[in-house]
Amino acid sequence: MKIKRIKISIRLISFISLASLLFITGCKHEKLPKLKDAFKDDFYIGAALTGNQVRQKDPIIMTILKDQFNTITSENALKWDTVHPELNKYSFEKADSFVALGMRNNMFIIGHCLIWHQQVPRWVFEDKSGNPVSRDTLLKRMHDHILTVVTRYKGKVNGWDVVNEAIDENGELRNTKWLEIIGEDYIQKAFEYAHEADPDAELYYNDYNIEQPAKREGTINRIIKPLQAKNVKIDGVGIQAHWHLDTPAFQIVDSSISKFAATGIKVMFTEMDINVLPRPENLATAEISENFQLTKESNPFPESMPDSVQKQLADRYAGFFKIFLFYKDKVSRVTFWGIEDGQSWLNNWPIRGRTNYPLLFDRNLQPKSAFYAIIKEAGSDK
Ligand code: GLA
Repeated sequence: MKIKRIKISIRLISFISLASLLFITGCKHEKLPKLKDAFKDDFYIGAALTGNQVRQKDPIIMTILKDQFNTITSENALKWDTVHPELNKYSFEKADSFVALGMRNNMFIIGHCLIWHQQVPRWVFEDKSGNPVSRDTLLKRMHDHILTVVTRYKGKVNGWDVVNEAIDENGELRNTKWLEIIGEDYIQKAFEYAHEADPDAELYYNDYNIEQPAKREGTINRIIKPLQAKNVKIDGVGIQAHWHLDTPAFQIVDSSISKFAATGIKVMFTEMDINVLPRPENLATAEISENFQLTKESNPFPESMPDSVQKQLADRYAGFFKIFLFYKDKVSRVTFWGIEDGQSWLNNWPIRGRTNYPLLFDRNLQPKSAFYAIIKEAGSDK
C-alpha cells in the first residue's frame, strides 16, 4: 500500500515537473522577439513542416511556429508519392492536417509540389506492362492529379510550387520522364492545369542553385519568359536557398534577385538553410540522389557546434537578410526548410547520420545566434 502511494507520488511529481518545464519553456518562447513581426512590412517569413510536426503538435514547436512564422510549406505531405500513391488512389490525411493547421493559424499556405522528377511513383510513367505511356496518357494523368489536388484545397492553399527543379546546372531543361514523354510543353501544361483548378492561387517555379548565372538564365529563358509570351500565369520564382557557409557569394544572390525581378514576377527564397558541414567533393547542389559515405572528418561536430562556426552561421544569415531587405519590394517571402536543427534533412543528406546545424533553433528548441542576427538586421533596416 505504502509502496503504491510512493509510486503514485513519484509519478505525480514527475508529471508536475514536466508540465512546469513545458510551461516555463513555452513562456520563454513567447517572450522572444518575433520574426514575422520584425519583417511584417517586408515579406512573409515561413517554415517547412514535417508530417511528424503536424501530427504530434509538440507544444513548443507549435508556439515557435505560431509566434515566428506567417507562412508554411509542406515538406512532403503534398508530394506526388504521398498524396497519389496509386493510379486510382489518393491519400490526403497528411495534406489535410497540414492545410488545416495553416488555416487555423491564418497562415499563407504553400503547396509543394505538383510536378517534380523525384518522389513520384514509377506507375505514373508506365502502363500495366511496364512500358512507357504515351504523351496523351501522361498529360491525362498530370491533369487528373493537378485538378484533384489543387481543387481540393482551392481557396485554402494560397500558392503552389507547380514545377520543381526542371533546369539543369548548364541552364538546359533537365532530362526527366516528363520531358521525355510529353516534350518541352509539359511545364506550360502543368501551369495551365493548376490555373484551371484554382484561378486565384499563385503559381510558382521552384529550383535550387538558380541564383547561379547559367541556371538563372536557363530559368528565365526556358521557363519564365516562354510562359509569359504565351500568357500562361506564373506569379513567382522560388530560389530554394539550400546554401553553405562559403557559397554562394552574396553578390550572386544580389544580382539574381534583380534579374529575376526584371521579368516582373515575385522572387521568393523557399527552402532556406545553411549547411555548416564539409561538402563532399565540393558538392554545391541540392540534388537529392547524391549520397556519400559517413566518415569522422565529414561529421566534425557530433556533440555541438563550436562558437566560431555559430558566429559564421549568424554572419552568413545576416548577410543574406541584408540583401533580402534591400530588395524588399521584390522579395515576397523567405521560408526556412525546417524549424530546428534536429529535424533538418541536412542531417541525412548528402551523407546519412551527420549532426548538422543549418536552422535558427537548436535541438533543444532554443534560438541560436543566427536568429538574433536576423532580428537585428530587420531592426537596422527600419
Ligand atoms: C528539394 C525539394 C524539397 C526537399 C528537399 C530536401 O529541395 O524541393 O521538397 O525534398 O529537396 O528535403
